[in-house]
Amino acid sequence: MNTFKITIDGKSVEVAPGRTVLEAARQIGLNIPTLCHLEKCGPLTSCQVCLVKVVASGQGRLVPSCATRAEPGMVIESETVEVHEARRTALELLFSDHVGDCLSPCHRLCPLQLNIPAMIRQIEAGRLDEATATVRQALPLAGVLGRLCHHPCEQGCRRGVFDEPAAIRDMERFLTG
Ligand code: FES
Repeated sequence: MNTFKITIDGKSVEVAPGRTVLEAARQIGLNIPTLCHLEKCGPLTSCQVCLVKVVASGQGRLVPSCATRAEPGMVIESETVEVHEARRTALELLFSDHVGDCLSPCHRLCPLQLNIPAMIRQIEAGRLDEATATVRQALPLAGVLGRLCHHPCEQGCRRGVFDEPAAIRDMERFLTG
């Protein structure tokens, strides 16, 4: 495995092939902020809070460091006013969609506004009575809907990005069956 060098904020970093700019920055103790990035899930590039600037020939482009692979000779700027402003704008855009921040997609897609994240947390904690109450509070004829609902909530399930959506309707059926 042949390593190579890149430069981040004037510091030279020895990088292994396949590493991202974010990983390279962490090697030298540079703390680039992240929001949507999870080590085990890989980059989602949905928040853009981790932006850095790749500089080339006096010009440059802003890229998400969590998803950008380091390349030999790369020159990166991380701690400039321009980069900080870009990160701030990304964050402001995220916060501007208030509904999107406060309600999960499954919750918003449920026609009856069942609080699905709460139900799942209660099941996970073994508080099945509470989970059942959460379902019954939102769903009239909960036992029937747990079987017949066309579960639009599952289309919004973020888990579906990685493999399959959570079986939300089956959980409702389990609780109310
Ligand atoms: S951490 Fe969200 S795009 Fe990189």
